[in-house]
Amino acid sequence: MASSTDQNGQNGHAEVLGSEFTRSVIESMGPNTSPRLREVMTALIKHVHDFARDVQLTTDEWMAGVQLINWAGQMSDNKRNEGQLLCDIIGLESLVDDITFSAATRSTSGVTASAVLGPFWRSDAPIRENGTTISFDTPEDGQVVLMHGTVTSVETGEPLADATVDVWQASTNGLYEQQDPKQQDHNLRGVFKTDAEGKYSFYCLRPTPYPIPQDGPAGKLLDLMDRHIFRPAHIHLMVCASGCRSLTTQIFDEDSTYLSNDSVFAVKDSLKVRFVPRKDDPKAELELEYSIGLAKAY
Ligand code: BEZ
Ligand code: FE
Repeated sequence: MASSTDQNGQNGHAEVLGSEFTRSVIESMGPNTSPRLREVMTALIKHVHDFARDVQLTTDEWMAGVQLINWAGQMSDNKRNEGQLLCDIIGLESLVDDITFSAATRSTSGVTASAVLGPFWRSDAPIRENGTTISFDTPEDGQVVLMHGTVTSVETGEPLADATVDVWQASTNGLYEQQDPKQQDHNLRGVFKTDAEGKYSFYCLRPTPYPIPQDGPAGKLLDLMDRHIFRPAHIHLMVCASGCRSLTTQIFDEDSTYLSNDSVFAVKDSLKVRFVPRKDDPKAELELEYSIGLAKAY
């Protein structure tokens, strides 16, 4: 505590709550707190207090932050997760994803890298037949791609039959179907099951860069930080197979803009892919072979 002659600070010296105050807040947790929650909350309280001290946070600034978080809550529903988006633009979802992925795949090579889920996955995407399309309202400026590959267990080296490959992507107007009343329900998404050789295939669009939603607190914060709102061209994948660790990832067009300054910091070099011309297929002008390695389940 800083020097003061009485408890009311009437000598004009500010009272500063220091490490003893922080310790008293941490020690207010009761004996029924689980060990992990105690560990997480102890570190959180310590870092948040130190952050406030470091920047000498004022009540006006703190209240502006509270209002931003409240705004995120008010805007969120089952189609929109503004809290997650706020975490994304400060790199928190990517960091947590990397910590989780690294812990699970340490000492295993060949596992496809993970990337953030993002807010546009839907749990109710339809199962579709291999070789069919996810693009039902193909836009005039869209390039159709045949994407195909094998899902393999890196532990055994064997292909995995009956794995599910859940795919979703934005259209060339930069919108996912749930953001765009003009697209049909479940356009540009679907779940494919690998065959006996572990193979999957579907037609999709060559992805294009798009802006993340800017009409909420995440957009406002990006603007205040003088940052752009774009993501590089990518396709989302969630791959699951029995006995393996499920993978959530994104693949990035190596020719896209914004690869080096993704607004949500999700790009990894190993996830960059090249689309090549496809011959003798009236349904697609491009092709992408992309095989996926899964780690053993915990
Ligand atoms: C996405 O790629 O869908 C996404 C990821 C994080 C934030 C916003 C969008
Ligand atoms: Fe996306």
